[in-house]
Amino acid sequence: MPSDLSPIEKAKFTAARHAAGLIQDGMKVGLGTGSTAAWLVRCLAERVRDEKLQITSVATSTRTAELARSLGLTVSTLDEVMRLDLTIDGADEFDGNLGLIKGGGAALLQEKIVATASDRMVVIADAAKHVATLGAFPLPVEVIPFGWRATSRLVEEVLAGQDVLGHEVVLRMAGDVPLRTDENNYILDLHLKRIGNPQSLALALNQIAGVVENGLFLNICDTVVVGHPDGRVEVTEHGSPARQVAQIDLATTSNIFSDLGD
Ligand code: A5P
Repeated sequence: MPSDLSPIEKAKFTAARHAAGLIQDGMKVGLGTGSTAAWLVRCLAERVRDEKLQITSVATSTRTAELARSLGLTVSTLDEVMRLDLTIDGADEFDGNLGLIKGGGAALLQEKIVATASDRMVVIADAAKHVATLGAFPLPVEVIPFGWRATSRLVEEVLAGQDVLGHEVVLRMAGDVPLRTDENNYILDLHLKRIGNPQSLALALNQIAGVVENGLFLNICDTVVVGHPDGRVEVTEHGSPARQVAQIDLATTSNIFSDLGD
């Protein structure tokens, strides 16, 4: 473990390392997107190489597919595989019901499609992602570029009737131009501060014609694995309190860092 790795990266690595151990030979696995999921991809690639595992993977974004392939993993399309055993992904927030906000990396659409095509979804995160109530992180909503201003207005009208504290809707930019998702859509970030009824909000947003999907993942995640910078791993399953299940030895744990050039 390189000494310059920040505590948050150590925590993300810890969660990813533990979750990679859930993957068994022969499984079909969905690979998430983001910095925590990138650790998962590295940990899985190491296991596949060292243990000669046969794993079929499906990526949730172009950048995850590129990382996985660069590390020697076989990446298939969801249409080839159809059904997955397990998807492991990061999250921007999770609450006590294992509800999530996702899409900070603009990959929410593929992430939701892959997660809901999986028998099980495991989220990997650092402890800062745990919230009492969803909504401090702006909720990403993927919209069709055609008529996006009209769609944004309809989103604001929906928000006026919902149990949320903030109402600001912001088009996500990439420099001077709107950010494009892998499907060439736009992202609206909804600054809600607090989402009192996520189920109601998710249903209302998805009824707007220009909305493709929203970043609320409700009743999709089965397990949250939280990593701590000291190597402790806590797991929360639906309906049960968090319990410490493992202690990863960060000093001796992996060749990943030498593979990364550290
Ligand atoms: C990608 O669109 C997101 O859903 C990510 O899973 C989420 O933003 C978590 O990313 P980090 O692991 O980088 O925090």
